[in-house]
Amino acid sequence: MEATGQAAGRLRLGVNIDHVATVRNARGTDWPDPLRAALLAEAAGADGITAHLREDRRHIRDEDIAALMAGIGIPLNFECAATDEMQQILLKHQPHACCLVPEKREERTTEGGLDVAGDESRLGDFVAPLREAGIRVSMFIGHAPVQIEASARIGAAVVELHTGQYSDLDAEGRVEEAAAELAALRAGAALAQSLGLEVHAGHGLTYDNVAPIAAIPQVMELNIGHFLIG
Ligand code: PXP
Repeated sequence: MEATGQAAGRLRLGVNIDHVATVRNARGTDWPDPLRAALLAEAAGADGITAHLREDRRHIRDEDIAALMAGIGIPLNFECAATDEMQQILLKHQPHACCLVPEKREERTTEGGLDVAGDESRLGDFVAPLREAGIRVSMFIGHAPVQIEASARIGAAVVELHTGQYSDLDAEGRVEEAAAELAALRAGAALAQSLGLEVHAGHGLTYDNVAPIAAIPQVMELNIGHFLIG
C-alpha cells in the first residue's frame, strides 16, 4: 500500500504570522513583533513558520525575513510571488521552502491559485535555480488536474491546495457545494501524490472547518494564519 502523508508521519502545522506584521504596521510601532509571534508558535509546537513578503510590503518586510531566518529554530516557508526581485531574495536567504502565490495589489489576501499551466515555461525557469539552491518549492494552486500536472512538470516538490473556496462555502452553509469542493480537493491530493508531489493545504481554515481537510490522507502540512493569529 502506498504510504499516505499521515501514515508516513504526523500532519505538520505551519503558522502564518503575516497578520502580526499587519497590526504592527497599522500603528507604525515595532510591536507586535512577528519574530516574537513566531517564537511563541514554535514554543507551542508549530512545525514551521510561513511569512509572505508581498511586493508592496504591506505586512512582512525584508528585515522581518532576515530576523525570522536568524531567530527561529523551525523551518521558514517563505511565501512570495514569482518575480525577479523575490527570486533574488530567496536565493540570498535560502529558506527551507518557498511557496509561490499569485499576487494582486488590490486583493485583501491571496484569493486564487497560481495559473501554473498558463505560465509553465516561465515558472519552470523560475523554479530551477531555487531547486538547485536546495529550496523546496511549493505551488499554491487550486485542485484542477491541469494545474497539478503542470506543477509536477516544472519540478515543484510540493503543491499547496487552496482551501479558500471550500472554507467560504462551508461558512455560508452551502453544504452540498462545500462537499463537492472537498471531494475535488481529495481527488487533487490523490493525483498530486501519484505524480510524486508532496501535498499541503491552506487558506481560510478554522477550528470548525479544518477536520475534513486534515483527514485527507495525502495532506502532510496545513498552513494557517488569519484564524490562529486572530
Ligand atoms: N497558504 C497560503 C499560500 C496563503 O497565501 C495563505 C494566506 O496568506 C495561507 C496559507 C493562510 O491562510 P489564512 O490566513 O486564511 O489561514
